Amino acid sequence: MIKKMLSALAVFCCLSAAAEAQENVKKLPAPQTTGGIPLLEAIHNRKTTREFSAEKIDEQTLSDILYAAWGISHDGKRTIPTSQNKQNLAVYAVLPDGIWLYDAEANRLTLAGRADLKPFLNTQDFMNDAPLTLIFMGSDAKNSPMQAGAAFQNVGLYAASRGLNNVVRGWIDRDGIAKALNLKPEEVIITQTIGWPYK
Ligand SMILES: Cc1cc2nc3c(=O)[nH]c(=O)nc-3n(C[C@H](O)[C@H](O)[C@H](O)COP(=O)(O)O)c2cc1C
Repeated sequence: MIKKMLSALAVFCCLSAAAEAQENVKKLPAPQTTGGIPLLEAIHNRKTTREFSAEKIDEQTLSDILYAAWGISHDGKRTIPTSQNKQNLAVYAVLPDGIWLYDAEANRLTLAGRADLKPFLNTQDFMNDAPLTLIFMGSDAKNSPMQAGAAFQNVGLYAASRGLNNVVRGWIDRDGIAKALNLKPEEVIITQTIGWPYK
């Protein structure tokens, strides 16, 4: 009897550990690498729009946004150039259910924390309903900010192609964000908020 109970307990522990691991990972659909509007139109249409409805970003669009920012596209290299290919940048996605670190190689998000970043991010009213903010971080003081710039430009072009609104935001509380993510404040480079326009 005791043996049976112990093995049931072991199965339960395994299942709950697996469920917990699953809760901490979001597998993304493969990013789209063809289509969209012509590049010159996207360049022409890219702009800041500070209006975001609460409509959720679907998984495919999320995957595409992250791929545009920081995906792996060729020979293990990124959709943006990086100094000496050192790839010193990381991208977090702040979603309604947590803060997730993008893992381009595995094409998934891993949970970085569930802290409420609103006090540190929502310094402007239009942020209140926004469904997605990217945080660009990197430890190379000289090159990471340039790489973040390339990444947010790619996302801006993708947004123009997909009919999404976006704004790059430097008016944030870096200390608060860094503390929540266990980073150094100077590693928090810039953020970008993305969402659908109101219908
Ligand atoms: C590094 C950087 C930081 C920015 N920070 C903010 C910000 O904190 N809040 C905001 O509303 N817009 C911010 N912007 C957006 C600019 O105000 C916007 O790009 C500029 O007005 C030009 O408009 P456009 O993007 O439509 O060409 C930032 C842009 C950049 C590149």
